Amino acid sequence: MPETWHRLLAESELAEGAMKGFEIDGREIVVCHSREGWYALDNICSHAYARMCEGRLRGARLICPLHGASFDVRNGSVLGAPANAPLASHSLRIVNGQVEVALAV
Ligand code: FES
Repeated sequence: MPETWHRLLAESELAEGAMKGFEIDGREIVVCHSREGWYALDNICSHAYARMCEGRLRGARLICPLHGASFDVRNGSVLGAPANAPLASHSLRIVNGQVEVALAV
C-alpha cells in the first residue's frame, strides 16, 4: 500500500529538544526534534491516557507526563515502567525544510 505523506511544519519551527502534537486523519501524533534527529510516534501513551507531547524529551528518551513511563524516541520501544507496550513509530522525512510524516498502519 503506498504511503501518504503529510506536511506538518517547517523544520525551523521546532527547536532541538522540543516536540509538538498533531492530528492526522484522527490519529494523534507527536513530532520530536531530539538530539539524535527527528522522529514521529503516536502521541497517546500506551499505558493509560496522556499526551506524550505534554511530557519531556531528554536525549532519546520520551517521558510520559502522567506516570513517568519512558520510551525510546527512535523506535517507540519501552525504556521504563509502568508502560509495557511500545508507541507506534511513523516514517518522517524532511523535504525542502518541511517536516513530513507518513502513518504506520
Ligand atoms: S499514562 Fe503514560 S505512564 Fe501512565
